[in-house]
Amino acid sequence: MLEEPSLAVPQWSLTRISQFCEPQRIAVIGTGYVGLTAAACLASLNHDVVCADISESRIEQLSKGIVPILEEGLSDLIREMTTIGRLRFTGSNSEAVSNAQFVFLCLPTPEGADGSADLSAIEAVSLEIGPYLLANSVVINKSTVPVGTTFFVRDLIDRDDVDVASNPEFLSEGSAVRDFLQPDRIIIGAQSPDVAIRIADLYGDSSQPRCIVVDIASAELIKYASNAYLATRLTFINSIACFCEAVGADIRTVSQGMGADRRIGPSFLNVGPGWGGSCFPKDTQALIHMAEKVGCQLPLVKATVEANDEHMRHVATKVARAVGGSVTNKAVAMWGVTFKAGTNDIRYSPALKIANLLTGWGATVTAYDPSMPGPIEGIRLVSSKEEACRGADVLFVATEWPEFASADLAAIGEVMSNRVMVDSRNVFAIDEAINAGFEYTGMGIGNMRALVDESAK
Ligand code: UGA
Repeated sequence: MLEEPSLAVPQWSLTRISQFCEPQRIAVIGTGYVGLTAAACLASLNHDVVCADISESRIEQLSKGIVPILEEGLSDLIREMTTIGRLRFTGSNSEAVSNAQFVFLCLPTPEGADGSADLSAIEAVSLEIGPYLLANSVVINKSTVPVGTTFFVRDLIDRDDVDVASNPEFLSEGSAVRDFLQPDRIIIGAQSPDVAIRIADLYGDSSQPRCIVVDIASAELIKYASNAYLATRLTFINSIACFCEAVGADIRTVSQGMGADRRIGPSFLNVGPGWGGSCFPKDTQALIHMAEKVGCQLPLVKATVEANDEHMRHVATKVARAVGGSVTNKAVAMWGVTFKAGTNDIRYSPALKIANLLTGWGATVTAYDPSMPGPIEGIRLVSSKEEACRGADVLFVATEWPEFASADLAAIGEVMSNRVMVDSRNVFAIDEAINAGFEYTGMGIGNMRALVDESAK
């Protein structure tokens, strides 16, 4: 299925493209984070958008204005766009594409059993829509897909009068609408300048050189390489945090000092319990798998994945140490279950992986999360921070929701059995926790004084 990627960067690469938005008819297939955000945002850019999904219940909900994901600004935008008639939902992919000039594929590519990306949704939809596509329409892959998939789609569609292109999406959950409408860059992989310019025009109003036009294989790989690089950066900073603890340094100042170097920059240097979510874990695995298939080893990416798993174990061990070395029969209060703040997504959440380790070692975990996700096996979910802490031996802060930082720690301490806290996101200032009577353990915050005293013994 994989075509040999072209190494040639087209001459029209890095083109500055900035036009006003001529309304176009667009079909978006898939109503996940990427599909819903793309559909609503493209509608807000003046286009006539129809968004399709095979899940009837999802389409029914969306048609009633019920948006199943927590994403700042998205529900309002969807409601506004559906009310003015620029966005509608359908359960029929063929109906959606039959009048569309552009078709965005925003389909899931979950991790397969061997780590590769599972392309069955892309395959099924491509085969289904082929006969219904308009002549001169463009099918654009927005999903994160292995190199070669856009050509695979072209072959499945099997239409000489239809173009294919790659336009990977870089939005982050929690800031999806903003990221879509104000992207750092828009990557367009196309086979001709005409197609690239037609796609760039969809994004309209920019007067900045944010469209980067490349060959299709490079566009597909830019997405994987970006995610793997960001994951590597996080693993790096989490590893340095462990080292900080051993030598009495403070990761917060180390990150700040590193980030002040313009070549490094300050983003993605915040220590945490490990990275997770619906993208980094599956995309790093898919990249490793893809590379191995063509005989290329990516030892750094493999090490990043392994070190991330090890880091989560390290955090669980910190919780055990905080309660005397073993969590057996200990009550752990956990604040946050989602993979990060600002989302209700619990896929590959480090909080849950660590909770699983803790329960495996004999602890009970009672958790609270502001997004109030549904029941989760193995942990008890409650509806407030205080309730989670009632009778707890230790508070484990797993996610950086703003409402945690403003908690009244003295009052929280009152309801706990022991005032012990492991703060895996450094949400609290140490003094604040200590003043509220807590034994506090942060991440990557070494205590030089204690180390000196220890070595003097
Ligand atoms: C990630 C990328 O950031 C997006 O650019 C990309 O489009 C998306 O994947 C995707 O492929 O669809 P997302 O998974 O929403 O976005 O989440 P991130 O904000 O990247 O966070 C990933 C993980 O890293 C989370 O567990 C988060 O808590 C952790 N993280 C992030 C840190 O521990 N420290 C940081 O400084 C930043």
